[in-house]
Amino acid sequence: MINCLFEDFFSHKFPQPQYLGAKAKHLAWIGKHIPKNTKIVLDAFSGSQSVAFYMKQKGFKVLTNDFLNFNNQIGKSLIENKTEKLSDRDLEVLFQKNRKPSEFNLIENIFKNIFFDESECKIIDSFRSNVELLSPIKKSLALAIMNRSLTRKVTMGHFAHTKALEYANNPDRIKRNRNLARPIKSIFWDLVKEYNNAVFDNKQDNKSFNKDAIDMISNLSEPVDLLYLDPPYCGSHPDYQNFYHLLETFTEYWKDKEFKNGIKHYFPKRNSGFDTKKDIIDSFDKMFAAANKIPYWIVSYNDRSYPSQEKMIEMIGKYKNVILDKKQYNNDVGGKGSVKGSHELLFICSPK
Ligand SMILES: C[S@@+](CC[C@H](N)C(=O)[O-])C[C@H]1O[C@@H](n2cnc3c(N)ncnc32)[C@H](O)[C@@H]1O
Repeated sequence: MINCLFEDFFSHKFPQPQYLGAKAKHLAWIGKHIPKNTKIVLDAFSGSQSVAFYMKQKGFKVLTNDFLNFNNQIGKSLIENKTEKLSDRDLEVLFQKNRKPSEFNLIENIFKNIFFDESECKIIDSFRSNVELLSPIKKSLALAIMNRSLTRKVTMGHFAHTKALEYANNPDRIKRNRNLARPIKSIFWDLVKEYNNAVFDNKQDNKSFNKDAIDMISNLSEPVDLLYLDPPYCGSHPDYQNFYHLLETFTEYWKDKEFKNGIKHYFPKRNSGFDTKKDIIDSFDKMFAAANKIPYWIVSYNDRSYPSQEKMIEMIGKYKNVILDKKQYNNDVGGKGSVKGSHELLFICSPK
């Protein structure tokens, strides 16, 4: 009998995200630049977790981090999680009636008739009440799947516009994307198999964090070999809280926020430090200084971002040797940072 020593973690497919700036299409390119002998990787701005998941598939120990909690829930369920999947019984629990309607009514109160109609809001709120009955990791998995379902249900997959219900009733739009008219529950049920299949054990104790990146890098509890940095691209839609506020509100179930403007984004927001020109140079300076102890870095960037690539090389150059690799966008991929003719960049950084 053949002794199977090598498990192909790539048989577990990453559920395709719809997330601004996700690097799912650039993984092999990033992978080419991973230094030999890498064992522990930190993805400090992990977003959809596409890069963290790829690193997990490669068998590394992965620490993953994002300052938005809905991204951390994907990290807990697909990076940290080794074995727990949602069963048929869990699905029954999740879609039973609201356990405490007077407490779990936030989505109906804030977003009714903006992104979803009343009956869908009630289902989302009752799901949120029942999710508390699952184990912590299953809770994360259920939240991650529901958050993905919510982005599928709205046009353009984000919440920075108020066209969701208009488009959900427009036959032309529905023809192009039938999810707009499908019940949330049915979208969710379809996704469960995909997410369950993405749960695997790469024989490492991976961990997901929900911190500010500079704080995360400054307070590492173990040595890291490779740091992957994919900060918001300042100059091209860098405010993730504007686009995905509803997912954060659903995950946190905020009781202490104001909800502002037509889209009802929560206020006050978390402080990124990487989404305004006023803050970003100072934030990079602090982050690079704190990261000096990590020998290798790979930094994703774009040639339409602020500061310029020359300034980035100058700032990183204080600490590391830097090599630049480039890829041209031949089609508009979505978002100002990935328009035709612009370049996706990688700064490959090694010890001096
Ligand atoms: C370009 S996206 C990362 C995309 C990710 N690599 C992927 O493939 O999906 C940038 C991420 O940085 C996060 N972010 C912004 N400011 C942050 C901060 N100060 N600390 C940690 N994460 C932050 C955002 O929430 C967003 O998910």
